[in-house]
Amino acid sequence: MIITIDGPAAAGKGTLAAILANKYHLAYFDTGMVYRAVGLTMLLAHDDIHNQELAEKTAQQLTFIKMMEISKHPDFRSNIGSSAASIVSAHPKVRLALLKMQQNFALKPTFADGNPAQGVVYDGRDTGTVICPNADVKLFITASTQVRAQRRFDEYKQKGISTSYEEVLNDMIIRDQRDSQRSTAPMKPADDAVIIDTSKLNIQEVADIASRIVEKKLK
Ligand code: DC
Repeated sequence: MIITIDGPAAAGKGTLAAILANKYHLAYFDTGMVYRAVGLTMLLAHDDIHNQELAEKTAQQLTFIKMMEISKHPDFRSNIGSSAASIVSAHPKVRLALLKMQQNFALKPTFADGNPAQGVVYDGRDTGTVICPNADVKLFITASTQVRAQRRFDEYKQKGISTSYEEVLNDMIIRDQRDSQRSTAPMKPADDAVIIDTSKLNIQEVADIASRIVEKKLK
């Protein structure tokens, strides 16, 4: 079984993906990691992330092992890492260079410990439209910008990262615009995706809705 979960930042995709992967014994691929890895690799090398050819070269050299290694860097999930990921992900040549790596995972999905899995939950922006257009279940998880900014701000506060709500909101608006207006694979629901607005739902309610959709498919 292949489940795709797309949508904007801090809508709850990652949490839902982890719940569904655990419940249905599926592997999990957080596809934002590939763009975060390319963006941060370039920043650390002092490369210009706006240079498409340089970004393409970095993307072509990315391996799973390199991605897991750089994911330990403190800026991998910070605002700096998020913006860099969004910028490099707008380069069509970068998307093309990273396409097969993401698609191939579904051919031989594995859990984090290397054991084989029966399927995969993808989370990202284009997993239902481009990476796996034939997925069994496609979800598009969203929430109002204010709710998402508040969630991300609370997360940062918990981690001790000093920032303001306004700054988080502003970064989120810019990132949403870039992710949804780029020419290649813009963030949008697949025609056959179920859209879930999580603004007024807790994670258990979202998981229940998603599980009902999955179980209907399993029957
Ligand atoms: O899901 P995330 O916040 O880790 O994603 C970081 C950036 O990567 C996001 O702003 C846009 C890009 N991205 C993408 O273009 N396509 C995906 N499938 C996943 C992420």
